[in-house]
Amino acid sequence: MDLRNPDLLRDKAYINGKWVNALDGKSFQVKNPYDNSIIGNVPDMSAGDTKLAITAAEKAQKTWSSYTSGERASILKRWHELLLLHVKDLAFILTAEQGKPIQEAIGEIRYGAAFVEWFAEEARRIYGDVIPSHSKDKRLITLKQPIGVVAAITPWNFPNAMITRKIAPALAAGCTVVIKPAEDTPLSALAIGVLAEQAGFPQGTINIITTNDPAPVGNELTANPIVRKLSFTGSTKVGKLLMSQCGNTVKKVSLELGGNAPFIVFKDADIDAAVSGAIAAKFRNTGQTCVCANRFYVQEDIYTAFSEKMTEAIKQQKIGSGFLETTQIGPLINDAAVNKVERLVNDALLKGAATKIGGSRMDLGSGNFYAPTVLTNLTPEMTINHEEIFGPVAPIFSFKTEEEAVALANNTNYGLAAYFYGRDYAMIWRVAEALEYGMVGINTGRLSTPLAPFGGIKESGIGREGSKYGIDEYLEIKYLCFGGIE
Ligand code: SIN
Repeated sequence: MDLRNPDLLRDKAYINGKWVNALDGKSFQVKNPYDNSIIGNVPDMSAGDTKLAITAAEKAQKTWSSYTSGERASILKRWHELLLLHVKDLAFILTAEQGKPIQEAIGEIRYGAAFVEWFAEEARRIYGDVIPSHSKDKRLITLKQPIGVVAAITPWNFPNAMITRKIAPALAAGCTVVIKPAEDTPLSALAIGVLAEQAGFPQGTINIITTNDPAPVGNELTANPIVRKLSFTGSTKVGKLLMSQCGNTVKKVSLELGGNAPFIVFKDADIDAAVSGAIAAKFRNTGQTCVCANRFYVQEDIYTAFSEKMTEAIKQQKIGSGFLETTQIGPLINDAAVNKVERLVNDALLKGAATKIGGSRMDLGSGNFYAPTVLTNLTPEMTINHEEIFGPVAPIFSFKTEEEAVALANNTNYGLAAYFYGRDYAMIWRVAEALEYGMVGINTGRLSTPLAPFGGIKESGIGREGSKYGIDEYLEIKYLCFGGIE
């Protein structure tokens, strides 16, 4: 790989401040989803390696939590500067292992670094309270203390930013971490680790376990009583399993799980703005984000106009290798991802849907490409209405009334993000309040920022990441009752 700083590309995992192989010497290959070429080889670790990382994190936590918040903030700020200094190399590694277009990868590195900056600042604002007492001889105080060792299990769709979104608040709070990146994208995690080491985190504060067999590592992270908190981003299915595994040791959990985001367009909306919001909400990372629009509901009066304009906008998108500066849509992560998209589209077509554009695989690179697709003539019972697509397909349903749109949007077990476009002021308030989602984009297709709370309700998860609330996930409240005060 052609990097300015080749030191960022590692073939070892990071435990207790040392770059190490797996205890049993096993390793696995990392592939570029564009052409399946091999771009790296990393340790294939298991439960034994994970135990070592947890023990190191436990030891380091005593030292790290004794640092003042200012000392922790300085190291986080140094790390933030280093991440930005290496933005191009980090983006290059990200595109190589994940496939997303290089401009988007640069965006992700900046997004990821912004969490480090934000939580470096929040480290100094971990305030307790003085509570007006119930009794003359007592004083009531609360302290906030770090929860302890944190396990962070992170996804392949944001190999950089989902790590910093979890570990920056954990570190700012005084916790230490064991990270398990996704098997498809371990290289970005290791590169982040190189820069964290340079920033000066004490040994054992950050540990990175790479593995191609997540179950034994996940079992250890969830069963080990030393780990006091699990933060996971990934599928609802795996989230439920991890949550149940954490039950035995009553760990605190944060789960950022699947979505089934509705994108509603009311007849009074600015249609051009809605189309550009729809493209942003649908095709970011080739449709592979938890907040990607999954179902479009368009009021019948503007249904044809919106579908036509959406189809035209998709024709303009450039598809290909993420390394081409002009590419807007890259490959899907692997063959299984393409198969899933194919299954959902075929089911809809069999049940009567029509294709306005796309509707099939594309013969490009490795073959992990699916053509950007618009489907019309849809009915609610089609599988595509209920399952997260995680690919570049826009199913457009029609609706008649506001009540119907809200009911259709809420008819799901998921509750992560929802979007809608419209102009009527009262309707905007009614719909924003009625949507059963953790996040709602109103007249915008992009809502992610480190400054705002990211997270879902229902089966989309528990807890919030980013914002002033994000650090609370890594803190315990301790209540002190001072008695005998005359
Ligand atoms: C995700 O897909 O899990 C995260 C997307 C985001 O942060 O915007």
